[in-house]
Order: sequence, then structure tokens, then C-alpha cells
Amino acid sequence: MHLSLLLLLLLLLLLPPCLSQSIALLQFKKSLTKSDSLYNWKDDGSNPCDPNNVWVGIICANGIITTINLSGQDLEGQPDVGALAAVDSLKAISIQNNSLSGPMPQINRLRSIKAFYADNNWFSGVIPSDFFQTLGSLKKLWLQHNNFSGQIPKSVGELPNLKELHLEYNEFSGHIPTFPEADIITTLDLSNNNLHGEIPKTLMKFDAKVFENNADLCGPKLSKECKKPSEQLEPPTESRSSIKWIIMIVVVALLILIILARANQIEEDKRPLGKGGIDEAVVNIPTVTKKSTTSSANSSNNNNNDVSSNITKKDSSRKGGGVGDLVMVNEERGVFGLQDLMKAAAEVLGNGGLGSAYKAMLGNGVSVVVKRVREMNQMSKEVFDGEMKKLARLNHQNILTPLAYHFRKEEKLLVSEYVPKGSLLYVLHGDRGVSHAELNWANRLKIIKGVARGVMFLHTEFASYPLPHGNLKSSNVLIGLEYEPVLSDYAFHPLLNNTPTVQCMFAYKSPEGVNVSQKSDVYCMGIIILEIITGKYPSQYFNNQKGGTDVVQWVKSALGEHREKELIDPEISSSEDEEDVREMVKLLHVGAACTESEPDERIDLKDAIRRIGV
Ligand SMILES: *[C@@H]1O[C@H](CO)[C@@H](O)[C@H](O)[C@H]1NC(C)=O
Ligand SMILES: *[C@@H]1O[C@H](CO)[C@@H](O)[C@H](O)[C@H]1NC(C)=O
Ligand SMILES: *[C@@H]1O[C@H](CO)[C@@H](O)[C@H](O)[C@H]1NC(C)=O
Repeated sequence: MHLSLLLLLLLLLLLPPCLSQSIALLQFKKSLTKSDSLYNWKDDGSNPCDPNNVWVGIICANGIITTINLSGQDLEGQPDVGALAAVDSLKAISIQNNSLSGPMPQINRLRSIKAFYADNNWFSGVIPSDFFQTLGSLKKLWLQHNNFSGQIPKSVGELPNLKELHLEYNEFSGHIPTFPEADIITTLDLSNNNLHGEIPKTLMKFDAKVFENNADLCGPKLSKECKKPSEQLEPPTESRSSIKWIIMIVVVALLILIILARANQIEEDKRPLGKGGIDEAVVNIPTVTKKSTTSSANSSNNNNNDVSSNITKKDSSRKGGGVGDLVMVNEERGVFGLQDLMKAAAEVLGNGGLGSAYKAMLGNGVSVVVKRVREMNQMSKEVFDGEMKKLARLNHQNILTPLAYHFRKEEKLLVSEYVPKGSLLYVLHGDRGVSHAELNWANRLKIIKGVARGVMFLHTEFASYPLPHGNLKSSNVLIGLEYEPVLSDYAFHPLLNNTPTVQCMFAYKSPEGVNVSQKSDVYCMGIIILEIITGKYPSQYFNNQKGGTDVVQWVKSALGEHREKELIDPEISSSEDEEDVREMVKLLHVGAACTESEPDERIDLKDAIRRIGV
């Protein structure tokens, strides 16, 4: 699947960068026009949870932010609540009793939020009908004493865990939506709005006073009979759906405008840099997708690297220094330049914490992965070059070595070989390609052992690094044709240390958080082992841990109760071979020992390797 330029840029725009918590809080603060009370929210490297100087309104538990309480802090402006999506583990936000305004804050981006108090402000406008659809864990929603208008969003009635709902003193109009989940609601107030029509039967248990002072509500509760449905006022559905269409068209038009503006900006950005700016590669790759087949026609159609690398060499010398923009550190897969990358058919692979990745098929038949990393330490090209050459010298069957890089002050490009079956994440949870039958126990065991060997190798090579791998997760384990795994994205710590991006490395999601050590790699390896045996998508991979399965907790509790077999992926648990099942259970225990939350109680890598039986 080759994506169009628009889609490619759209992905870049829409996927949120991984922000560290303090950056997210500062972005929130920046959106306010008055925020004097947040005096110690500063961009000075301080930690919002620092017990000696905790940021105003921030409540932490074990060093992580759980609640933001800015109640009555004399704040003004339109708060960017969506920015707080980067604050993992945030459970409650209170911005009540301020002078905040604008539309409904974007809590729908905070999928694990349990309580949102925004009452007594100047929020206004219509809340989209499906706004609350993604907020399965929301329990308390206080929006009273604002100026919201339009219908009460239908999705609020469908929240599965809602206990408290305050919408009184707003301008809500229209019918009250149905509340199929009203059983568990303990507190409700819809009074002092402009609602009309029948009170849904599910809300009969509430007192009449929670409905009072509305335009024209009716029902047995208010001892007021409802008129027949035909006489009730309700905009015809047809006109509503055409409004929906108009809105959609406007939104799409706006997006296209934004994209064009950004594309222009990219053009401008690269102009002073002349040919070969990497944005050029990204912009041009998809547009020449069709041409690439013809331009590669003169390169032999087979995968013979020697022949084709000669061709690319000639090709780039003709263009004068195309190769020069890209520094080759490993020529095993041929020599190519930025021009060749630009001509290649490209495909977006995804946007990891560190940057975005593309797959490009070169004219010589070799597929490569191009990773853009925007934020790295300020370092000279020489230092960076030394680091890359060090990585390129590694030689281990479970380690992916870089082929080439491109250095620019503001971003770096890392090129490595594409591995046929893609990532382990994709092989385990993806929906196309790999047949699950091939994911039998023998292959899974091969992957676990290969990962362990790769990690062991890195810990020997980079024994002095705090994090010899640092970003070990299933999306960075690539799977070869014979199910031999290769690790990528390793040993980046020296390149990212002291930048906010470092926190995007998966090791920083281990329970020890910023206090990472070599044991953090062991934790990450444990997650992969549990992921492979259970076949479940670990919630640990999500920034807010909402979604997926908390494999650590699940495995821990099931092992405690000797329910091991329930944990094993049904696709392999039916194995007839007793020996296989014993091995699976044994490795579940190893995975659990690797993911102990206390680093001191966690086994070290040598123990893990020994117990895996590499
Ligand atoms: C926030 O603080 C106020 C007092 O300043 C308190 O009344 C309120 O309950 C707190 N809200 C939350 C969610 O902690
Ligand atoms: C809101 O703030 C005022 C003072 O600014 C205070 O008197 C009142 O109790 C606060 N209300 C709530 C709900 O916290
Ligand atoms: C509340 O919203 C209405 C429109 O729905 C507007 O006319 C009114 O001025 C708003 N009031 C305040 C105080 O913002």
C-alpha cells in the first residue's frame, strides 16, 4: 500500500509527539491568558512532582502525576486540556471556579480520565454528540454553571461508568438523550437549562427537582402529561444529517488548507539547504511512486546487490554527489544516495516515540527503513558519525545494524535494512500477511531466545551504558523470514540523553520511571516474553495504559493462583505436547520475574538468560 502525499503529511500532523509531562503542563499553561497563580510551573528542568517544590495544583503518587487541581486559581483563557494527554496516569482534573472560556475542553483525548470538574467557568458552545464515546472510564463530570448550548450529547448517556453528572445552569436545549446506563448514576442535575420533551424512563428514579426550571419537560415525574410525539418539536433528521455533511466538508477543506500550508512551509524550510534536504525526500517519495518502476527498469530486476549497487553508484555520480548527502556506514546492501531514496516508492510504517519511519523500496530491489529523529542531543557531525560507525560495526544475527545516515542539525535520518516480516508487534497483533498458524510455539520460542541473545550481546557491547538497549518493545523487534528476530532502535541513550525525547524510550515506561538502569531493559524484555506467550497487546505500550491488557498484573495474579494455563494464547495452548506446555509455563514465570516492579527484586539479565535457556 503506497500512501498519497496528503495522507503522509496528515499522519505527520495528527500523530501526537511524545511529550514529557512537564512539557505538556507548560503547553497547557501557555494556552491561558491569565495564570499568575501557577508561578512555579517553569521551563527550568524542574520536576512537577519534586517533593520540595511540587508545582501548584499538581498531586503526585510515587513520583507520577495523578491529579491536577486548579480549582479557584483565577485562571483565564481557553485551556488546552488536550495537551495533558501526554501526562500518563492522570486520573482527575479540576479547573472549576475560574474564568475559563471557549468550547468544551478536549478531555476526549485523555482516555483514562476518571473525573473532570469544569463547573463555574464561561465555557460555551455545542458539545458534539459523540464527544464522550472514548471516555469509558469517566465517572464524574461536572459542567454546571457554564454557558454550554445545543443538545446534551448522546454519548454522555452511554458512558458505562458514569456516577455523577452535573449539567445544571447551562443553555442546553432539545430532548434529554436516553440513558441506558442510568442504573449506576448516583448524582444527576439537569435543572436550569432549556430542555424540553419527555423525561426518559430510565431517569425516573431521580427527584423532580433535578429537572426543574427547564423550557418544557414533561412526564409522570413532573405530573405533566407529554403531548403526542408528532406534536413535539424536533428538527427533521434529514436536515440534521445534511448539516453533518456540511461540517464534514468544511473540516476536510480546512485540513487540506493546513496541509498545503505546511507543505509550502516545508518547501521554504529546505530552500536554503539546497538539494537533498530530507523533507524533500519525504515530500517527493510518494509523488514519484509510479515513476520509480520505470526508473529502476534499467537496474536488473533481480535482487543482485552487486550489479544494482554499481548502477546506483553511477546514477548518483551523474547527479553529482547524491551519495554525499547520505553517509554510508555499511555497504553490504549496496551504495545509495538521497536521490535514490527520493525516487523510491515509500510507505509510512508508523510514528514511534522517537520519530516517524518510512519504508522505501530502492531501485536495486533492496527495501530500507528510513527513520527520522527530530530531537537529539546537540552534537557535532563528527561525534554523531562516530556513534553511527560504532553501531554499524556490530555484527550479530539478532541485531539490526544501520546502513546509512543523514545528518542535519535539526533532524537526523537513520537508514537500515527492511526485515521481511515486519515487526513482532505486527506479526502478533496485525491483521494482514502472516498466518497465525505459523506463530506456533517453536517459532515463538525462537523469537524469545533470539531477543534474549540480542539483548545479552548489547549488554556486553555497551556494558557502560545505563541503557544498552533502552527502547525494547515488540515494534522494535523485527522478524526475518525464518522467524529469527532482529533488534532495532538500540543504544540511543547517548544520542537522546538530556532531551525530552529520551522519555519516549520504552525503558522510561518501566515502574522505576526516570530512574532507569540496566534492569529497565530486563523489564522491557519481560513484557515482550509475556506478550509472546499470552498473545495479548500489553497496556504498557500505551502512554496512558488505557487499552490493551495489563499483562504484568494479569500474569502475576494468575500465577499466584496457579491458573497458568489461562494465560497462554489459545492458539498455542492446545499443544498436545506436554513438554511444550511445561516450557510455556516456565517462561511465563521468567517473564513475571523480569517484570517485578521493584528493580531490586527483579532478576538480572544473566539470570534471565540462564532461565530462558539460551
Ligand atoms: C481541589 O481543591 C479544592 C480546594 O482548593 C477542593 O475543594 C476540591 O475538592 C479539590 N478537587 C479535587 C478533584 O481534588
Ligand atoms: C469558588 O471561589 C470562591 C472565591 O473565589 C469561593 O467563595 C467559592 O466557595 C468557590 N466555589 C467552589 C465550588 O469551590
Ligand atoms: C452564552 O451563550 C449565548 C449563546 O448561546 C450568548 O448569547 C451569551 O452571550 C453567552 N453568555 C455569556 C455570559 O457568555
